[in-house]
Amino acid sequence: MPSNSSEAESFLPAMAAIAREAGALLMDYFHQHLKIEYKGEADLVTAADRAAEKLIRERITQNWPDHDVLGEEQGLSDRGSDYRWYVDPLDGTTNFAHGFPVFCVSLALEHRTSKLDGERVAGVIYDPTRDELFSVAKRKGAHFNGQAIHVSKIRSLQESLVATGFPSHKRHKNPNIYFYHQITLRSHGVRRAGSAALDLCNVACGRFDGFWEFNLNPWDTAAGVLLVEEAGGKVTRFDGSPFELNSRETLATNGLIHAELMREFAEIFAGRGLETPPDPREYKR
Ligand code: IPD
Ligand code: CA
Ligand code: CA
Repeated sequence: MPSNSSEAESFLPAMAAIAREAGALLMDYFHQHLKIEYKGEADLVTAADRAAEKLIRERITQNWPDHDVLGEEQGLSDRGSDYRWYVDPLDGTTNFAHGFPVFCVSLALEHRTSKLDGERVAGVIYDPTRDELFSVAKRKGAHFNGQAIHVSKIRSLQESLVATGFPSHKRHKNPNIYFYHQITLRSHGVRRAGSAALDLCNVACGRFDGFWEFNLNPWDTAAGVLLVEEAGGKVTRFDGSPFELNSRETLATNGLIHAELMREFAEIFAGRGLETPPDPREYKR
């Protein structure tokens, strides 16, 4: 284990170097016109996703040959280690594939205390389009390009800028459009930028006051959730119960608007917002 937080922190320089190298590779691909392939109806993958994951796995193996790796494109390499990496080589593939410059590399390291349980101890998220590096070590705080960061101090949803995302598969089964509608009416706005890892970074550094999404995968959230927590924020399921990597519900806030968002969600789940939309002729008047 990293028996202490300094040990967790000692992983960060190498993690940051790997994320920067993978980010540079993504930028090379970004400037070319890439062929889009489909994993599902609107679930895209490109050669860049695969090449970045290959590079990241090679670097992890060079540095820590016995560590396990769970990556979005290649799945789990289980070497029976106490350490597991969560790798999203390109978070924001749809943006990337359309030339919209909002995407990142996300890496997290977990120390597994048993087969079922683990503690995330370190993470980095790198946005190569803006050269922004977010890093975090358990009990050592969250950093943005080397400076300590903290969540915002906004106390009400009404004064908040929040973010969400929508899944790229089983879209028809996702109720988030109702949440998007209702929370938009009750806040300064809801951004849907297309990279869950960057959304979590933006909560951690106070650009957003909150973020929620249904059905994220462990590689989307592993680094970003630790970042929000270490920046003083709060992350739970929608009902306030503890967040876990396979929770399928992520609610991350500055802590101050958490209870209010939970109350809103409970009401939306109970049926508020399911009324018929206004007649378009109403808008014209
Ligand atoms: C996606 C992004 C997006 C979120 C989707 C994720 P990907 O990850 O994080 O913001 O809304 O649910 O799948 O596929 O670009 O790595
Ligand atoms: Ca992702
Ligand atoms: Ca991805």
